[in-house]
Amino acid sequence: MTTEPAQPQHIAIIMDGNGRWAKKRFLPRTVGHVKGAAGVRRIVKACADRDIQYLTLFAFSTENWRRPPEEVSTLMDLFVQYLQKEMADMSKEGVRLRVIGDRSAFSADLQARIAAAEQATAHNTTLHLTVAANYGGQWDILQASRAWQKANPTLSIHDLREQDLAAYLSTADLPDPDLLIRTGGESRISNFLLWQMAYTEMYFVDDYWPDFDEASLTKALTWFASRVRRFGRTDDQVANAANAAS
Ligand code: FPP
Repeated sequence: MTTEPAQPQHIAIIMDGNGRWAKKRFLPRTVGHVKGAAGVRRIVKACADRDIQYLTLFAFSTENWRRPPEEVSTLMDLFVQYLQKEMADMSKEGVRLRVIGDRSAFSADLQARIAAAEQATAHNTTLHLTVAANYGGQWDILQASRAWQKANPTLSIHDLREQDLAAYLSTADLPDPDLLIRTGGESRISNFLLWQMAYTEMYFVDDYWPDFDEASLTKALTWFASRVRRFGRTDDQVANAANAAS
């Protein structure tokens, strides 16, 4: 087990603050989301350049349907535009796209575009980009439990082990995030990857998402490199394991 993580293998990001970024400039919230979508492209590239292998972005939560209809519609449009415009370029850069969440609530057109982008990039390995859309951590745990029961109809709930459930989560083939970044000044995880972030290092930063750039990412990575990850062990155990490994 690695105790001195020079660099995270998997970064998860809660891209918060688009609305406040716009409000500060007397612009409609939707303009903030457009700027936020441009920030997505920038950060995907920055992660690929830094050899980060997994990036998971929280684009739309199960609770975001409660927003004004025009804002929900802008977010859906941005998602479509992103799939239309950016995916071909990103695919050339080796980005593999996956979308996690309950996509049945999306329009048939958006569902088809997501499936096409996933298929077109399935062979890419440079950066695994996962977009969480209509996603909620509680939803994920529930759907995994149901899927496990469906696959194992003869087993009882008492047979269910942690590793069994993990295999049915929507992130089953991804490593757990090493680093969570949340922009926008809030210090909470807002029903994101609840199960998967049991040992994730959490970095909360005041910058609004549209302002989070390559230099901000570098700062987050520097902070991460200073963390000692104990995974439940003591400082002494961690130090001994590091000495034994060197
Ligand atoms: C949170 O800011 C942001 C969102 C709910 C949406 C994030 C979406 C994008 C960055 C653009 C689309 C994404 C992709 C993958 C193309 P907020 O609106 O809650 O901001 P506030 O807290 O300042 O109101």
